[in-house]
Amino acid sequence: MVWYRFGRTGEAQDPYYIAEFDNIHDFGEATPANIMKYEFTEPEAGVFNYTGAEEFLTAAAGKAIRCHNLIWSSELPTFITNPTVNWTNATLTAALRRHVTTLVEHFGDRCYSWDVVNEAFSDNPAGAYAPNIWYDTIGPAYVVEAFQAASDAVRANNLAVKLYYNDYNIEFLGNKSYAAQALVKDLKNRNIQIDGVGLESHFIAGETPSKAAQQANMEAFTALGVDVVVTELDVRLNLPPTVATEAQQVVDYYNTVAACVAVPRCVGIVVWDFDDTYSWIPGTFPGQGYGDLFLQPNGPNTPLVRKAPYDGCLEALTGAPEAL
Ligand code: XIL
Repeated sequence: MVWYRFGRTGEAQDPYYIAEFDNIHDFGEATPANIMKYEFTEPEAGVFNYTGAEEFLTAAAGKAIRCHNLIWSSELPTFITNPTVNWTNATLTAALRRHVTTLVEHFGDRCYSWDVVNEAFSDNPAGAYAPNIWYDTIGPAYVVEAFQAASDAVRANNLAVKLYYNDYNIEFLGNKSYAAQALVKDLKNRNIQIDGVGLESHFIAGETPSKAAQQANMEAFTALGVDVVVTELDVRLNLPPTVATEAQQVVDYYNTVAACVAVPRCVGIVVWDFDDTYSWIPGTFPGQGYGDLFLQPNGPNTPLVRKAPYDGCLEALTGAPEAL
């Protein structure tokens, strides 16, 4: 379990970070948090750049790779967001299909899985399609088109890569989770490949769904015949941490890992970085942080120290009852 955004914020040059990244006992799989996204892999129309992604794959050799992601609303190149000629349904669908097909074929079975579509559903109202360039131009069919293109590429090239839908606020039963479940059913009815659902799990200490709530939600997905993965786990808290919020964070990590352990088709847990030094949280949620399993008390390029949630995860993985 690991999150990794190779080369963007210096962690790839931090020997202490890399030593933990390389610790196969802790992290048997890896996800590039940014470098496989659209703006990096297809910066100009039809011009593909795999340099960063290949560096990441080299650094992560020996791990299962969750490739992330093919179609999303963010981190898009300007040729998509600011086209010289306005997109039509037909032209944007063709661009989408080219991107998906080219990446699935290029990386092939070096990807254990691909997040084919990321965050298609809204929170407001929960479960509606989120407005974005894809939805606004193509309608909900963009999701089907992306999975169809990926599915076609997998079949044509006889690949083993698993195809996932990935989102947040689908870690508990509710309208957004139901929308993702309906998508799984729809794709299966169309004979389009979908193997799993990624539950991002960007949680807040004290607001994390209980183990029972997460488990029930996971089971709702796996009952449809797909795997689930906890894909982007972190548990942030308001800064500065207190004894109480740190203790709560351990419980929240434990509950999430324990839910996955309890569900046979929950096949992985990935943390969205393992080291507070490089976490996306403080930059995205001002005033919050301290969300990862390790920290560097003396800053970048100094030894990592395990935090209490690391032990909470370990207890859940080994079936030990939560100590707190
Ligand atoms: C985030 C990265 O962590 C940031 O570095 C980047 O600036 C924005 O994207 N959901 C996802 C991830 O699926 O791709 C996002 O990653 C976090 C939310």
